Amino acid sequence: MIHFIGGGQMVEAIIRAILANETVNKDEITVADISEQRNTYLMETYQVKASGEQMEALKKADIIVIGVRPQDDLASVGVQIREYSRKDAVVVSIVAGVTMEKLANFIGEERAIARVIPNTLTDTGYGYSGVALNSYASKEQVDEFLNGFGKVMYVEERLIDIFTGFGVAGPNYVYYFIESFADAGVLAGLSREQAWNIVLENVVGSVEMLKLSGKHPRQLLDINNSAGGVGINALHELNRSDFAAGLQRSVLKAVNRTTELGQE
Ligand SMILES: NC(=O)c1ccc[n+]([C@@H]2O[C@H](COP(=O)([O-])OP(=O)(O)OC[C@H]3O[C@@H](n4cnc5c(N)ncnc54)[C@H](OP(=O)(O)O)[C@@H]3O)[C@@H](O)[C@H]2O)c1
Repeated sequence: MIHFIGGGQMVEAIIRAILANETVNKDEITVADISEQRNTYLMETYQVKASGEQMEALKKADIIVIGVRPQDDLASVGVQIREYSRKDAVVVSIVAGVTMEKLANFIGEERAIARVIPNTLTDTGYGYSGVALNSYASKEQVDEFLNGFGKVMYVEERLIDIFTGFGVAGPNYVYYFIESFADAGVLAGLSREQAWNIVLENVVGSVEMLKLSGKHPRQLLDINNSAGGVGINALHELNRSDFAAGLQRSVLKAVNRTTELGQE
């Protein structure tokens, strides 16, 4: 049984994905949100059991997911887990910025904890969630569940902030690139629709090409760039721009902001 404490946006996305992927059956999911309206919505939409009264659900759970926000009352969530859950249940926290040490203070020492930064591409099956395990937790306890809403990368906890600013924020950089690239097509004279279709096909195809060929991007650029031709002229302008450093500064800013938010 999987029990979710907090039934907000991220938890809903996870439930939708694990049901769609048939990782678990709807009878194996329980949710406890603080809002009865939210519980009713989740019950009606996904036919899972959702109730503010969670003693029974906590007793039965093999996996307990803490899905509340960092500023919510984690201490009272911890008290409920301590009081009612089985000692061998694994606690999966998706709460950004809260370390496993802090979590252990709330839920008790010697408990299996997985700190997870879920990806936001849950409906697609793509995207890595970053997972750090404490010494009481094992991959076997969580692997199947976590793979139900994307791919899983196990990392040391010290890398979680980097994982968040680089990996989980990853789609943002790609969305921004796609938007800028489509705008370039419109600027050059294509219709918005034409530019959009070409950009999407190019992005998907380029990723596929990298995977299929196993080549480094620079090798593929060499193949595409003939002497004095279109490609090398375009590349020259990009090299003169702040493109690479701008993107890299943006990632570092996101990583630093993740750390700052965790300290607030
Ligand atoms: N959204 C994302 O893309 C994303 C990505 C990675 C990680 N996360 C993490 O996921 C967590 C949830 O984020 P979210 O975007 O899903 O937030 P959210 O939609 O606000 O969900 C939190 C839910 O928990 C409820 N809640 C608060 N205190 C509770 C308690 N003591 N017991 C039971 N339910 C309680 C809230 O109810 P009320 O609104 O009535 O207070 C709300 O429905 C956060 O810690 C965030 O850092 C989110």
